[in-house]
Amino acid sequence: MGDEGEPVAEIDVDTPQAARIWNYWMGGQDNYPSDRAAGDAVAAVYPDIVRMARLSREFLIKVVSYLAAEAGIRQFIDIGTGLPNMQNTHEVAQDIAPESRIVYVDNDPLVLAHARALLTGTSPGGVTTYVSADYHDPDRILERAARVLDLSHPTAVLFMGVMGYEPDLAVVRDIVGRLITPMSAGSHLVLWDGTDTGDAVREGGRKLVEAGGAPYVLRSPEQLASCFEGLEMVEPGMVRITDWRPVRRIGTTEPLDAYGAVARKP
Ligand SMILES: C[S@@+](CC[C@H](N)C(=O)[O-])C[C@H]1O[C@@H](n2cnc3c(N)ncnc32)[C@H](O)[C@@H]1O
Repeated sequence: MGDEGEPVAEIDVDTPQAARIWNYWMGGQDNYPSDRAAGDAVAAVYPDIVRMARLSREFLIKVVSYLAAEAGIRQFIDIGTGLPNMQNTHEVAQDIAPESRIVYVDNDPLVLAHARALLTGTSPGGVTTYVSADYHDPDRILERAARVLDLSHPTAVLFMGVMGYEPDLAVVRDIVGRLITPMSAGSHLVLWDGTDTGDAVREGGRKLVEAGGAPYVLRSPEQLASCFEGLEMVEPGMVRITDWRPVRRIGTTEPLDAYGAVARKP
């Protein structure tokens, strides 16, 4: 199932790519010199980016565990999946509920190339599949997801550190709305992103562009919260990702320029 059988587009190793730079910051091996150079340029002015990348995975683990164990969610659409690293959405969900069905969505050919590796951990009773799509095409995402998910049942839609690639907040809100509106009551939206909450993080954003990386728009926590209109926030609402139902701390407890929330469709 999914797009893993499709021919893989040629991979440009000379231009730094979002998924690979993120993989570098997370401590992964799936990156090239161009990605590492861009990653180092950002980290030189904003060392916290490495902490953000790693702590964001802690956030994913906390949230997916909550959704599977407490909210009873068995269907997940993880948009802007990135390269496999640490524990991925399907591993976290299927560890709690082996029958969970996960649809990964990304538009990077290297992520597609790694889809097979990503799928190896799938539980026997569950489904994990991959769709090659741009999040600006929610109709394609829904059409492909519906091949393996029953969208009349509650589904969680995850945007984990990906919406800054779209510069226009109105477009972001439209994409979120077009995905959540057709979903059943009890579905959930999860969204976290880097925030415009410090000088160093802004400087990091400038360095990313100088190094040839795709521009990433940092927003305020209030702007991110506006994407949840019409949904019921799960406690504690829009907070720093480290403060969302903390289970344990890794690294320092310095405030992180990254906010996220989980909300339920009534
Ligand atoms: C910063 S990484 C985050 C990866 C992962 N969500 C995580 O939490 O580790 C951003 C990911 O979004 C993907 N991406 C960027 N723009 C996208 C778009 N328009 N549609 C789908 N995926 C996109 C990139 O290819 C990359 O894999």
